Amino acid sequence: MICSRSTRSNSPERYLGSNGAEPAMDTDEGILVTTKTAPTRLDNHYMRVAVRLAQRGCGATSPNPMVGAVLMKGDKIIGRGWHHRAGEPHAEIEALSDARQLGHNAKGATLYVTLEPCCTHGRTPPCTEAIRSDGIRRVVAGAIDPNPQHGGKGFEILRRAGIAVAHGVMVEECERLNEAFNHWIVRRTPFVTVKAGMTLDGKIATASGESRWITGEQARAYGMKLRQGSDAILVGVNTVLADNPSLTVKKKKAEGREAQVGVGGHKLRRIVLDARGRTPLEARVASDECAALTTIVVGKLAPKRRVAALAKRVRVLVAPSSDGKINLRWLLKTLGEEHITSLLVEGGGEVNASFLLQGLAQRVTFLYAPKILGGRDSRRAVAGEGARTLAESLSLTDLEWRRLGPDWLLSARLVAR
Ligand SMILES: NC(=O)c1ccc[n+]([C@@H]2O[C@H](COP(=O)([O-])OP(=O)(O)OC[C@H]3O[C@@H](n4cnc5c(N)ncnc54)[C@H](OP(=O)(O)O)[C@@H]3O)[C@@H](O)[C@H]2O)c1
Ligand SMILES: [Zn+2]
Repeated sequence: MICSRSTRSNSPERYLGSNGAEPAMDTDEGILVTTKTAPTRLDNHYMRVAVRLAQRGCGATSPNPMVGAVLMKGDKIIGRGWHHRAGEPHAEIEALSDARQLGHNAKGATLYVTLEPCCTHGRTPPCTEAIRSDGIRRVVAGAIDPNPQHGGKGFEILRRAGIAVAHGVMVEECERLNEAFNHWIVRRTPFVTVKAGMTLDGKIATASGESRWITGEQARAYGMKLRQGSDAILVGVNTVLADNPSLTVKKKKAEGREAQVGVGGHKLRRIVLDARGRTPLEARVASDECAALTTIVVGKLAPKRRVAALAKRVRVLVAPSSDGKINLRWLLKTLGEEHITSLLVEGGGEVNASFLLQGLAQRVTFLYAPKILGGRDSRRAVAGEGARTLAESLSLTDLEWRRLGPDWLLSARLVAR
């Protein structure tokens, strides 16, 4: 998931003081400025700093959320922290130890944290305990823990310990940081984003399969950021046959292009839908140095010898299928159990259509080049059978448009049916 930079204002009804009372409001800017426990103008500022710190963990924290924290004493930031990767200390602990290392005493300080502090023992001890024992006076949080079993409990424990709590500060930015995690933690299937680079008339390749490059350099760099923020990337076998893609995160280096499956320890898994086992053994995804991170998903009727040959190089998953197509609900459940929280679907048109038209995608990221390809047989970004009636067409919401050099980016959520 790409880190959000949206700056929409907060919804004041979520603000609660330590006693649960609604604070008064300053209506001229719609920002809350009141009592000592209610959020202030400065709270938004420091929460923004915490959001930026959280974004440093992008692509490295899964299956944990990205979290950032800032410790304030008087008018000074005395500690900063963010969750670096799963299994390592949480953002709150990082901020507290940063303050200690800088020679500050956190007693009486205010903690800004993008997500409700945890209150249970996971791989690390509960943060609520560290906050209490270090004498933090006030906690200002962004999002509530999306896990329904935990949500709100961390705040309750802090309040009972006499710590002032406000939450809901920059809540949309804080929730957007962990859009994929929030989905996975509740449904246990990955958050699916369908991404495609296309012409203005919705074509992703010519009739002969030529697709490189429709969009420009900035759009492609954005695509790399999307990959970096995802746990896995998925394509159909026709895309492997047509393009032989490496499906890695490529970073530009001064001396040339460097290809890596992951960056900063992040291992991007590669998945190919291939019911009949047609992926060539010499395809990049099956033969490069990252082959161990590839899963080829075949159907039960795939030729045994092909499956055996592929299995010597990559992981082969035998999946249920119908009409020769891999059962995607089964696959998403399986990937969710393997802690894949976010899945980036990168085509081609048949695969995009399968996810979209079965209602299995949550977000589209479409990159439009100012070009028109036309042609009856050129490849569509979304193919398949299509919706039969206009009433059955998919609706998008929360549209965000952005210029990327000569191209346009559209990112939007799909309206669940
Ligand atoms: N511009 C871009 O962003 C972009 C990105 C990607 C691809 N492309 C272009 O797209 C073209 C390929 O697209 P395509 O639509 O022909 O093929 P595709 O979507 O890449 O692959 C479709 C194939 O995947 C297999 N499959 C297995 N289970 C499936 C399921 N549940 N749903 C859908 N497919 C499933 C089927 O083959 P089996 O029956 O053999 O399993 C199916 O024919 C290439 O020309 C490529 O260059 C462009
Ligand atoms: Zn924690």
